[in-house]
Amino acid sequence: MKKITIAIDGFSSTGKSTLAKQLAKKLEYVYVDTGAMYRAVTLFAMKSGFVDAGEVDEDALVKSLGDIELNFIFNSDLGFAEMYLNGENVEKDIRTMPVSKNVSQVSVIQGVREKLVAMQQAMGVDKGIVMDGRDIGTVVFPNAELKIFMTASPEKRAVRRYKELLDRGEDVVYADILENVQKRDHIDSNRTISPLKRAEDAIEFDNSDLGLEDQFQRIYEHSLRVI
Ligand code: C5P
Repeated sequence: MKKITIAIDGFSSTGKSTLAKQLAKKLEYVYVDTGAMYRAVTLFAMKSGFVDAGEVDEDALVKSLGDIELNFIFNSDLGFAEMYLNGENVEKDIRTMPVSKNVSQVSVIQGVREKLVAMQQAMGVDKGIVMDGRDIGTVVFPNAELKIFMTASPEKRAVRRYKELLDRGEDVVYADILENVQKRDHIDSNRTISPLKRAEDAIEFDNSDLGLEDQFQRIYEHSLRVI
């Protein structure tokens, strides 16, 4: 079977990473969560004091980009790779609300995007990869053999995220999550560099009313057609 590149883009909390992980496992491909990379850079910026009341000191962050080392290290117990920032496992820290609140502001910065896109392209040189994010089918891998674009209503997505964070023991309020989901959609879709948009050749899935298993089957069948 030939190895291909699979790009999964879409709005936040559409279940992209769950599907991408499942697909990568089934196809024995590498899975890369690019949102985790933007989140790790955001955590670095916050820890370095470059974020103040939602404002990011862009110059300071861009000057420090060389000090940020990101690695995905496979955790065989979990069955997927976890994000490490400068040698520290930050998988849990990057999923918290404070990071979610700042990540879209960090993601508009050109220097940040250039660094992360270059890393993502290097990870995909040998194909056999499922990558999820916002600009994978449009910018990172415009020639990906299979592109999926996922949407769902903001309310459905906020409920999903709310349950996820509650399960992780975070003390969260549903209204805050809905606001964060909508705000991130707005910033991600309207930024000048690499805005979130469906690639012309992407297959769109609105999963508001579709179960995970159904979605997985449909996307898996699409991938088999291309492989
Ligand atoms: O996928 P996730 O919701 O974890 O992504 C967090 C944020 O990272 C997004 O809201 C977006 O601002 C940014 N992001 C991006 N480009 C990507 C992946 C994520 O700008 N390829």
